[in-house]
Amino acid sequence: MNTKRLSDSMEQALSKQMNVELFQSHTYLSYGIWANDLGYGGIGNFLMRHSKEERDHAIKFMQYIMNRGGKPTIEAVPAPSADPQNLTECFNSVFKHEVDNTEKIYRLVELAFEQKDWATWNFLQWFVKEQIEEETLAMELIDKLKIAGGDRASDESLFALDKDLETAPDDAELARDATSEKP
Ligand code: FEO
Repeated sequence: MNTKRLSDSMEQALSKQMNVELFQSHTYLSYGIWANDLGYGGIGNFLMRHSKEERDHAIKFMQYIMNRGGKPTIEAVPAPSADPQNLTECFNSVFKHEVDNTEKIYRLVELAFEQKDWATWNFLQWFVKEQIEEETLAMELIDKLKIAGGDRASDESLFALDKDLETAPDDAELARDATSEKP
């Protein structure tokens, strides 16, 4: 008896997204190595922690497909793009990666809606929320670097930024959790 509870096209689309998340993980790992190599151990640590989060996202897609009776397919992961030229380019690229990923998640949500696949639609809502956090986190990175002086930041302010990111929380605060005491 066929117990698969996903359409073939949805199974393929979710599997493709699992591979996209693995690519994101690869990209952040390569940025982490790049930052470490330049001596930014805290920034490198932050990016490598993020690489692990992206792998966790891939695992969620993998597990969901299997739970619904499908079979995900691991594909070759493309090589990450060339190293950034500087921290501004690195953080801008992190933001762009997240926005691209959000658009991919939205397309999956649309597909689930079209197919009236409410289980998948519901599963994907976790990722809709997660992408708000990830985009916010990326914007905060850009802001922190800007405050530090951007490409003209002094060694002292870059040292402070590096220290800050070593211990910065991995999740951004969401508007829905804000209160008047803690906006
Ligand atoms: Fe898994 Fe940063 O999106």
